[in-house]
Amino acid sequence: MNIDHDPKNTRVLVTGAGGFIGHHLVTYLKAKGYWVRGVDIKEPEYKATDADQFDLLDLRRWDNCLEAMRPAPDGQKIDHVYALAADMGGMGFISANHSLILHNNVLINTHTLEAARKGGVSRYFYTSSACVYPEHLQTSADVVPLKEEDAYPAAPQDAYGWEKLFTELLCHYYAGDYGMETRTVRFHNVYGELGTWDGGREKAPAAMCRKVAVGKLTGEPTIDVWGDGEQTRSFMHVDDCTEGVYRLMMSDYKEPLNLGRDRMVSINKLVDIVADAAGVEIQKNHIDGPMGVRGRNSNNDRLREVLGWEPKITLEEGMARTYNWIEAQVRDKMAREAMEQELAAAGDGAVHAAQPA
Ligand code: NAD
Ligand code: GDD
Repeated sequence: MNIDHDPKNTRVLVTGAGGFIGHHLVTYLKAKGYWVRGVDIKEPEYKATDADQFDLLDLRRWDNCLEAMRPAPDGQKIDHVYALAADMGGMGFISANHSLILHNNVLINTHTLEAARKGGVSRYFYTSSACVYPEHLQTSADVVPLKEEDAYPAAPQDAYGWEKLFTELLCHYYAGDYGMETRTVRFHNVYGELGTWDGGREKAPAAMCRKVAVGKLTGEPTIDVWGDGEQTRSFMHVDDCTEGVYRLMMSDYKEPLNLGRDRMVSINKLVDIVADAAGVEIQKNHIDGPMGVRGRNSNNDRLREVLGWEPKITLEEGMARTYNWIEAQVRDKMAREAMEQELAAAGDGAVHAAQPA
């Protein structure tokens, strides 16, 4: 940890604080003693925020970015910004919403960064993605782990990755032109409790937990998996993610850095891990679906060198925690739906009973 500061005297803004990683990051920063303002276009879905202040603001708008950057109630300016707000999701979402993603995320990030500069923010953290890496380096399931310098010459698969590269560069130039301290991370598939698990934006770990939980609770042993399931990824639990984010923010390192685990597994293996956590036997039904790249893994050499640390939570442990949380969500949802059906049936009965014979 290199920067000299007192967390208790440091005011922090987390954008995207209503989302998965932002929500966890607010909790992490509060535990360190910071005063934290969270901003998002929506409230956190599953648990109340720990932020000192939480503002509902659409950060595509310049005036809202200035408002997000206003001083804390004690008059002190915002010192550190963690910029996580983005229109994003798993492959189901990012492969089908290119224009929306590019438009929204360019607006969010150009305005947030410029408002931070105007507000005199001393440190700015940007959350990029492994989706910046060229598609042609990720065509085999047995992929060579991706090093930071592999990002250029640039050829990301989707608009989502192009926007991430664009904002990485914007941060780089703001550092050079204005002397802002910017930090940039490239996350590899992050999963965990309190993450989106249904609705279309969920990533593979949450989708697999939901499908297995539904299968277990309804007695249906077969679940749908997109593709042949032999495509590969590496997955990082959100607790490792927040720890890595903070360590990078506190470091002197100014270039984009991978943050992920470097254990590559197939999606079929991921399903097996989830089935073990659930204590059930699962059959996989492979169907057409958005695949993304064929294989992806993180090369963590630089991460280890720069931070002297790397993510530690095993996939088995992290997925067991995630599965238990998602199974509870699925149970609650099923109970709510059953109750609604009963009420509707009772309502129908009442209406019918009221009709003349
Ligand atoms: P998330 O979707 O849960 O959180 C993003 C938040 O940004 C959401 O709560 C959303 O409402 C908010 N947002 C969207 N548009 C907004 C707007 N116009 N104004 C204000 N807020 C807005 O996603 P996450 O998984 O927590 O990701 C956080 C960051 O990390 C994102 O920038 C994402 O691209 C990046 N990232 C995540 C992963 C991952 O695996 N989760 C991987 C690579 C990069
Ligand atoms: N989401 C999802 N849902 N994916 C599935 C499913 C399913 O039901 N079944 C199989 N998969 C497969 C996808 O086809 C893909 O090959 C793989 O699981 C991983 O999908 P995701 O987790 O959705 O996305 P990703 O790993 O390709 O990309 C994610 O991680 C990036 C960072 O590494 C996305 O969240 C990106 O937004 C993120 O930047």
